Formats: sequence, structure tokens, C-alpha cells
Amino acid sequence: MHVNFTETVLRDANQSLIATRMPFSDFEDILETLDSAGYYSLECWGGATFDSCLRYLSEDPWERLRKIKAKVKNTKLQMLLRGQNLLGYKHYPDDVVRSFVAHAAKNGIDIFRVFDALNDFRNIEVAVDEILKQGAHAQGCICYTTSPIHNLEKYAQLGKQLEQMGVNSICIKDMAGILGPQEAFDLITALKQSVKIPVFLHTHCTTGLGPITYLKAVEAGCDGIDTAISSFSGGTSQPATETLNYALLQAGFETSLKKDSLKKINDFFKPLKTNYLASGQMDSFVLGTETDALTYQVPGGMLSNLIAQLKAQKSIDRLDEVLSETPRVREDLGYPPLVTPMSQMVGVQAVSNVLAGERYKNVSKEVKAYLKGEYGKAPGKVNPDLIKKVLGDEEVVTSRFADTLEPLFEKTKQELGELAVSDEDVLSYIAFPQIAEKFFLERKERQSRTVSYSIIKKQGELK
Ligand code: CO
Repeated sequence: MHVNFTETVLRDANQSLIATRMPFSDFEDILETLDSAGYYSLECWGGATFDSCLRYLSEDPWERLRKIKAKVKNTKLQMLLRGQNLLGYKHYPDDVVRSFVAHAAKNGIDIFRVFDALNDFRNIEVAVDEILKQGAHAQGCICYTTSPIHNLEKYAQLGKQLEQMGVNSICIKDMAGILGPQEAFDLITALKQSVKIPVFLHTHCTTGLGPITYLKAVEAGCDGIDTAISSFSGGTSQPATETLNYALLQAGFETSLKKDSLKKINDFFKPLKTNYLASGQMDSFVLGTETDALTYQVPGGMLSNLIAQLKAQKSIDRLDEVLSETPRVREDLGYPPLVTPMSQMVGVQAVSNVLAGERYKNVSKEVKAYLKGEYGKAPGKVNPDLIKKVLGDEEVVTSRFADTLEPLFEKTKQELGELAVSDEDVLSYIAFPQIAEKFFLERKERQSRTVSYSIIKKQGELK
């Protein structure tokens, strides 16, 4: 059996280890080697890369994508898309979702991995439809979580729903690295029995389970795994590409990876890692193994957020209470998977419930919007007393929330006028208005400086 490898060094490893601060110039020279190494795909865009390019790196994310595409001619380029939320945290109207997908495909994305935090597939159906219209590969995600209502039958059902929607493949997304080897074996087995399309697995090394989990998943028939080149693997990142390639070949599976290319790639990234560690951009903390997530059943990132919140309020001695309140809040909210933005919402609410000395005395506007149904349908039943307490007589939305949103693309384009020089600019602005505007102005400034410099140079030559 052949196993596909997706390399994450440019996106998830970059995001998990150095907060997505790797500039294009740092990895430009290795792109051709990455292209010829035999990967199924290179995950290189989406997630936090878009935001980080504009906000911290003074890079146009679209231009970055085109520059990658120019050097990666054979291997498929992959992005992570948050369904109706695109790359942000709120729902966008359908015309924006369609335009974003169309332009991402036009600029070079071949595989779109699409997820919704609640596994409410009404929030990915428009994106999937447009991806298929563009002739690209739509990979539908199932966000993995554990709860009394999440079982193999439920996951098999979700897989079937995705297949019926017309996606080309499915990805189990274990964002917290809590999927154990036996659970992975059973889950992949159940999915392979219920769907015909390929099934991929995405996990992290956070709890140390990652490599064993991948091996058992592949034994159960998993078609592809996400790994990071070894110098950017481990900890909160993915298991190492070379290690999994070695172990799978030894176990009798086939892969297309070329060992000498992997060595070249790793030799290229090793000194970069040393530099990031020296500059403090990479903290050695993220490279360790954090098993507390297994005890508390909350993702590692969420646990460190809870600790930071409590420290800021000089209440770290209440951590145990908060950790026992967290699953109660999650139950009240109908067991949402603890992925962005749900992990933040549940965590903040649990802290507030404990510190206020009264449950739901204060409720954030995000939790209120969630209870109103603006994020989609909760996986389980939401506590009716809580809905009553927070919403009173306000109506709960049961239809697809994006249906209530007015088209936005053309209107924004008119408003921006000359500030936006392309449709891609308009999309950047819709996603991140303030930072995109700042980026556009700085870009204009840079360009006019370059122009006046060349005029001065010409005048100098004439003399
Ligand atoms: Co991930």
C-alpha cells in the first residue's frame, strides 16, 4: 500500500513553532528541492500565513503564493481554509467566499483543506462547491474531539455527509494531538468502511502520541499523513517526515519520497532553526512533549492560555477549579471541538465562571453569538437554561447564518477605489481591513521611492 506525505514546514510547522514569522526570502532557495522530493502536496498557505504576511512581514500573501507556484511546478500546493470564516474568525457572505476560493485557485492553490470548528457542514458547502467549480481538489475536514456524544458511528456519519457533498478526500483534523494510536486505528477503519474516497490524517506531536498514531492509522488504511521536515518537527509541530518515511518503508508500505532530497531539505532548514532559536522567535518550550493535555483533555495551547489568564488576574491558585469547570462549560455548549475559536470561548468562560463566584454571571459577546446560533449548529444539545438566561426572549438562528449576510465584494471594491490595485487586494482588505490598508499605503510608499530613485539614477547618468 502507498502512503502519501504532505509537508507542513511552510505552513503548520511554521505556524506552530515560530508563530508563522518565516519570511519568503528564508525558504525561497529550497522550493525547487521541495518540489522534486516526491511529496503528495506542500501545505504552504492559509491558516495564519495570510494574516502574518500582511501584519508582520510586509509581504503580499497573494504574491507569496504566486512566487511559490513559479518554483513548485509539479507538486500540488495546499492551503487550509476555515470554511465560511475563510482565514478569519467571523462568517463572510457567500460572494466573498466564492471570490476568495476562485482567486486562491487562480493564483496557484491545487488542494483546499476546508474545515468548520463545529463540524457544521453548512459552513463549508459554498466553499466546497466553488472549489469543485474551479476544478481544484476539495478536502473536507472532520475536526476530532472526544465527548460522550462523539463516537465512531457519529464520525462515520460525518464522513458520509462529506462524501455526499462531493469532496475529493477527507481529512481527520486532530489539532491538539490528543488522538491516540488505537483510537486512530478504530476511527480510520470505521471511515474506510463508510466512504470510498481517500482519508488523510493530520495530527501534532504536542502530547507525544503523533508518530505512533500515524503508524496505526496507516495500518488501518489511512491514505496520507502530514509531516514536517525533522528540524521543524516535534513538539507543537508535526511528526518528522524522514522518521515516518523510514518507519513506514520498514513496515512494508510504499512512499514516493526521495531520501537524498529530504536530507538536502533538512540541511537547509537546520541553520534557520538555530537562527530562530537564537533570536527568540522560536521558544524551546514549544519543542517539548506536554502530556498534561491527556490528563485534562484540553489542548496544550488552551491550557497555556488558561494559565496565562489566571496569572494575569493573580489567581493561578484557582487553576484546578478552572480545569474542572472547563468540561462543564463545554457540556453546556453542546460539546464543541476545542479548536479556534471555540477553545478560546470555552476557556474564557470557565475562568470567568470560577473567578466571578457565579456561573455565567458574565458572558462574552462571542458566547452569546454562539448561543444565538451564529456560529452554526452545536454538535450536541445546548443547555436550555443557559440559552434562557443569556438570550431571554431573543430568537435563536437555526438557518445557515451566512444566508442572513448581504453581498460584500463589489461594494468593498467600489469603496476602496484606487487603494486596491487588484481583486486580490479587495479580498485582503475584507479579511483584515486595518492591516491591509496599512500594507497598501506602505507598498505605495515603497514603490514611489523606487521610482524616484530610478529617475535620480537616470539623471545622474545623463550628466
Ligand atoms: Co494543525
